[in-house]
Amino acid sequence: MKIIVCDDYDQMSKKASEIVSDIIKENPKAKLGLATGSTPVGMYENLVKDYEDGKIDFKEVSSVNLDEYVGIDKDNPQSYQYFMNEHLFDKVNINKENTHLPKEDGSLEESVKKYDKLLEEFGQRDVQVLGIGPNGHIAFNEPDDKLNMHTSIINLKEETIEANSRFFDSKEDVPKQAMSMGMADAFNAKTLLVLASGKNKHKAVEKFMHTDKIETMFPMSFIALHPNCYLIVDKQAYEG
Ligand code: PGA
Repeated sequence: MKIIVCDDYDQMSKKASEIVSDIIKENPKAKLGLATGSTPVGMYENLVKDYEDGKIDFKEVSSVNLDEYVGIDKDNPQSYQYFMNEHLFDKVNINKENTHLPKEDGSLEESVKKYDKLLEEFGQRDVQVLGIGPNGHIAFNEPDDKLNMHTSIINLKEETIEANSRFFDSKEDVPKQAMSMGMADAFNAKTLLVLASGKNKHKAVEKFMHTDKIETMFPMSFIALHPNCYLIVDKQAYEG
């Protein structure tokens, strides 16, 4: 585990984008695992800049995303598909047919099976970007006495609905369910890039720094099992 403490959000974003850029430079056919939320926005901005400056090319890059809300259309600005288009896909020369997010296609059960099949065919990613929730969740794998290995429909915890309500007009508008990769899927990458920024992640980061236990009640603890994991945090997340 490589832990990198950055001065601020911008430095964290720069560091993360450099790692992803280097992976794309080394392998133009890189397979990326991508994440949404406020944390990776700066990283995407830097990647777009690298693309515009001709340093990286997304022509042959492909991607899978961790999760998507249930019951939200992909054209809804709150959807994660919309987020990815807005922050990356529409700004670089990636072939959108090679980008994948969980999506409702048939019943929820069928949709879950389809995403699992897609992930299996996609294979191991070169890098997976991950955020953490204030409660230590990974993708939408919420603290619980059991965690899913593969894609599933998750009932969001109250604290996650609360945390995500900042993106919506009101808390009531936040979807109550999401389709999310499981823990085994989320970790199926040669490199894990776990990012955390800001005071509201401090409790989780501090808990991680001080525990030597793997706990399903603290999904973030599982990142310690990955053989090539970077935890890149800013000072606010690290020191509170
Ligand atoms: P955030 O979300 O980047 O918007 O803080 C991360 C997460 O909840 O996993």
